Amino acid sequence: MAEANAPNIALDLLSIHSIITRALSVTSEKSQQFAQGGFPDASTKEGFLCYARSFVSVIHGHHVTENELAFPYFREKLPDAPYDLLIAQHQELVHVLDEIKATIEEVSAEPQAAAALNKLNQGLRRLADLWHPHIGIEQDRFTVARLGALINRDEHIRLGKLFAKHSQKHTGPGYLVLPFLLYNLAPEERAIFARNMPFLLTRLLVPVVWKARWAPMRPFLLD
Ligand SMILES: [Fe+2]
Ligand SMILES: [Fe+2]
Repeated sequence: MAEANAPNIALDLLSIHSIITRALSVTSEKSQQFAQGGFPDASTKEGFLCYARSFVSVIHGHHVTENELAFPYFREKLPDAPYDLLIAQHQELVHVLDEIKATIEEVSAEPQAAAALNKLNQGLRRLADLWHPHIGIEQDRFTVARLGALINRDEHIRLGKLFAKHSQKHTGPGYLVLPFLLYNLAPEERAIFARNMPFLLTRLLVPVVWKARWAPMRPFLLD
């Protein structure tokens, strides 16, 4: 029997999906709450904006990595998955994400921003309608068992690091995106996900050097 939590690129995809899925539900819920009751203080507003901007950046980076690295690689190993459909779905998601990105800046520009927050909430709902069926297909096709049987352990490790590095190149800023990634996961899943990250990032930069910079996002993250 395979070692539990052995390096497997499908596990990394599941983690990133669960980060994005959690952030989608947090931003939806909070945009509605702040639209109705206003922001309690300036720090909460700043934290919400940092969190929402990180969310957009991470989902963008994830699509780019799938389009440019994961799908071309998987196409060789698993030719029967609907790659063209998945790429077309990414394009639909990009349209909604562009609107969401602009709306986040409208929220930023207004003091209480009830109208912009409502608009943001509607955009997030449309995103959720596209996101859930999309990851349903990916998680159905790119399973731990299937990829585990097709790719050896060293190759899973190599791909994990390669995909993480590629995503990081297309996301930013690191002092927000890295803590956003780590702390949208529960501790056990976080430890598995952090395997692809340099020790310096997870042990020094995120918890110590950058701590004050991402602190306003704390209310939206997990411990
Ligand atoms: Fe995707
Ligand atoms: Fe995905």
